[in-house]
Amino acid sequence: MKKVYIETYGCQMNAYDTELVKTILGREGEYQLIDSPEEAEIVLLNTCSVRDNANRKVFNRIHQIKQKRNGDRVLIGVLGCMATNFRRQLLNDPALPVDFIAGPDSYKRLPQLIRHVETTGEKSFDVTLSEFETYADVYPTREGGVNAWIAVMRGCDNFCTFCVVPYTRGRERSRDPENVVAEVRRLAEEGYRQVTLLGQNVNSYHFEGRDFAYLLQRVSEVEGIERIRFTSPHPKDFPESLLRVIAENPKVCRHIHLPLQAGNDRILQLMNRTYTRAEFLRLVEKIRTLMPDVVLTTDIIVGFPTETDEEFQDTVQVVEEVQFDSAFIFKYSERPRTIAARKYPDDVPDAVKTERIVYLNDLQKKISYRKNRQHVGEIHEVLIEQEYTKRSPEHYQGRNEGNKIVVVPKGEYHKGQFVHVKILEAAPHALRGEVLAVLPK
Ligand code: SAH
Ligand code: SF4
Ligand code: F3S
Repeated sequence: MKKVYIETYGCQMNAYDTELVKTILGREGEYQLIDSPEEAEIVLLNTCSVRDNANRKVFNRIHQIKQKRNGDRVLIGVLGCMATNFRRQLLNDPALPVDFIAGPDSYKRLPQLIRHVETTGEKSFDVTLSEFETYADVYPTREGGVNAWIAVMRGCDNFCTFCVVPYTRGRERSRDPENVVAEVRRLAEEGYRQVTLLGQNVNSYHFEGRDFAYLLQRVSEVEGIERIRFTSPHPKDFPESLLRVIAENPKVCRHIHLPLQAGNDRILQLMNRTYTRAEFLRLVEKIRTLMPDVVLTTDIIVGFPTETDEEFQDTVQVVEEVQFDSAFIFKYSERPRTIAARKYPDDVPDAVKTERIVYLNDLQKKISYRKNRQHVGEIHEVLIEQEYTKRSPEHYQGRNEGNKIVVVPKGEYHKGQFVHVKILEAAPHALRGEVLAVLPK
């Protein structure tokens, strides 16, 4: 048996793909998966390319692994988004000791790619993007636990001008709902309580006339699964029918991630986000009318090319107006091959980007804290996810419907159970409370 170690960077889809790769290699019967790179004969890095720091981490890691091994033979394979986006450099740069690369649609060919390097000593690669591959026939090797990820669509056709994903992951394609439901049934039998439906633009899911609202409804009919989440959606794909399922179906969590990116119309247009500030605000209003207690989170990019201080202030204003529960805020990072990289020079100085990100993070932290304090005294339904916290073995940790972390004292309840918690205390990124009752479900 050859020892294989996999390291994963980037988003949930990559974490899920690593589970697919484990199954694909496992089927061969000649690979043993191990938990650290020291003993490995094959090291796979499943990479992300969405911002420059993600790339740099991987380049450093490749050198680090080779150096540590000090001449021992170890094959290094690069998978994921850098494999497609940096294929030339990965294959041709003599200073980079990479042996094979495989893009996100080529994992079924991994065993052949590895054999090719082993028998010929030549680098091998497959970065072909497919219009059809959904890995519907591969059952992921999951870690176990409370939540299972399940990719229901792959790829993205939106071409936001800053984003590399349409180039690294190719065209949108969705899985047959019957096939998704069958997998969710199996997950319920294995004891999972929650599923998170994944896709780069998950709510643009469509399969032979069936849309995302239909899929959520079907998945919610599976007995044993009590919570359904989804990520990442795009604001353009929230028809009334979908909002109604989220509002009315008790299993679908009333947490919506609504990536704003920017609050200024000129910048939104340069980004090709396809909505205006007013349209975004109208959608928020519609969501809150249907679900007053919804949790809203967002992604924001500061320092997109040509963004002025006044235009940045428009983003600040939207953040103040909407009062998101939390936000991921990023400095614009120019990505090779994207439309923005070709058309708009990255002209906002890094110092200005830093100023803007610090300002927004401070503002958002205050808002998150204020929103969390409003929960004190409320009773939340919490799914216990782990029987420890980062800080304390005497506490358990779970999440409420809005996906907020809730810490409770250790007690007569266990991972995978639902409990009623009275919220006693709030921090910007977590809540703390006491368990009132263990729920029968
Ligand atoms: N498909 C998802 C995830 C995209 S990547 C979506 O559309 O929401 C996650 C976030 O990274 C994006 O929402 C965006 O805020 C950020 N991002 C993407 N490309 C970026 C870039 N070139 N520079 C900085 N942030 C970027
Ligand atoms: Fe990237 Fe936009 Fe697609 Fe999201 S929707 S993956 S930001 S192109
Ligand atoms: Fe990164 Fe690719 Fe996911 S670029 S964010 S790993 S889709």
